[in-house]
Amino acid sequence: MERTQVVIPAGEMDRQREFTARLAALHQQRERRPLAMVETYGCQQNVADSQRIMGMLREMGCGFTRDPFQADVIVINTCAIRENAEKKVFGVVGQLVHAKEKNPSLTICLCGCMAQQEVVAEKIRASYRHVDLIFGPQALWRFPELLYEVYTRHKRVFSIADEHGSIAEGLPVVRESRVRAWVSIMYGCNNFCSYCIVPYVRGRERSREPADILAEIRQLAEDGCREITLLGQNVNSYGKDLDNPMDFAALLEEIDKIPGDYLIRFMTSHPKDAGERLFDAMARCTHVAKQLHLPVQSGSSRVLKAMNRGYTREQYLEKVRYARSVMPELVLTSDIIIGFPGETEAEAMETVSLIKEVRYDALFTFIYSPRPGTPAARMPDPVSRAEKQVWFDKLLDAQNQISGGLHRAYIGKTVRVLVDGESGDAEWPLSSRTNGGRLVHLKGDPGWIGQYADVRITDSNTWALFGEI
Ligand code: 5AD
Ligand code: SF4
Repeated sequence: MERTQVVIPAGEMDRQREFTARLAALHQQRERRPLAMVETYGCQQNVADSQRIMGMLREMGCGFTRDPFQADVIVINTCAIRENAEKKVFGVVGQLVHAKEKNPSLTICLCGCMAQQEVVAEKIRASYRHVDLIFGPQALWRFPELLYEVYTRHKRVFSIADEHGSIAEGLPVVRESRVRAWVSIMYGCNNFCSYCIVPYVRGRERSREPADILAEIRQLAEDGCREITLLGQNVNSYGKDLDNPMDFAALLEEIDKIPGDYLIRFMTSHPKDAGERLFDAMARCTHVAKQLHLPVQSGSSRVLKAMNRGYTREQYLEKVRYARSVMPELVLTSDIIIGFPGETEAEAMETVSLIKEVRYDALFTFIYSPRPGTPAARMPDPVSRAEKQVWFDKLLDAQNQISGGLHRAYIGKTVRVLVDGESGDAEWPLSSRTNGGRLVHLKGDPGWIGQYADVRITDSNTWALFGEI
């Protein structure tokens, strides 16, 4: 891979800043400060991308609102991972026609993974004429130029070229919290799991330079940030494309040397690339949370092969055994897909037996959703949705019992947590997380936010713990 073509040259980033300045000048001529609304669907990578979009909007002179009828610019950052995610976005975008009727000068932008797909762009072009700008994740850094084009040429702009993808350093950012931050360490995915749309919309794997990542984390630690989550579609293939290759375990060791009272989390790990080197590094690094999100997807080796996952049930279980042997306190979570094309009931029950064997702390469970353009979408899929739902419910029942049991075992214990925000619940107003990432709702006042506390766990349910400082 040609690194020089991957990182956007400084001159090009300066050109974008030039557009930002021009937009700021245009905005200043308005009677009142323009307001932007940014709405985000999907994964943490999208949340991180939205924070960059907000950073650019702020430099363009915008304030922020959550009310589409108050907004002058609306950006919808979309997700394409399953069909319901797309349906929801089309519903939201359809509704925006009313905001545009009330305020014809409103600019509506659609970005993210849906926007990168030709079929979606065509549908928007034909049937959602109130959308002014569409750009995919690959074009995020060019948002100032694209928005400027919409403003000055008064025409709709579609920037969805299928690109390898690039890395843009130095984009401004609006962080949601002073306690927690997301840091992307790489972009894209090369794995082409047969059900997954991500490699088609987010381009090929490309890693940020270690020096850039370390500088960003050093700054966050200096600013008092307590919890930093490293993001990548598959963090375990970090660094393979660098001119001076460095693997993810080595990156963790380098980050761990940065002084400060902070925790490092990361997601997502692909089991085929996660191994002893990573688990040993996690165990050694004091800043690294003993938490692992290791999506297994299926407990059947036959289905795993059809998914193109690159490991068997036994290999996965062996990795989990090793990880727990070096980190007995490890909090382990996973993603599961039920109803992959051709999966039989017996194979789905192999997944249920796997989760009983592993005893995950929590699971993210999905019913398979065909994504046009992926290999799995062309496979015969004879099982009805109703039958898949029955299998899915069995999986959920099993996991609820496991999570409930693991959570009950915390009652009466004292755990150290980071208080990270308000929960919105009157009885348990604070939210916090243990080192392993378990959610703990707390009684207490907001003055605790950003601080560590020793908490006695008094109650639990299947998804959270409850406690008192
Ligand atoms: N259908 C259902 N679930 C999917 N995922 C990815 N693609 C699909 C799909 N087509 C799930 C996987 C992945 C998580 C982010 O979403 O479990 O790990
Ligand atoms: Fe999708 Fe597989 Fe890449 Fe994850 S590793 S983003 S599931 S293709």
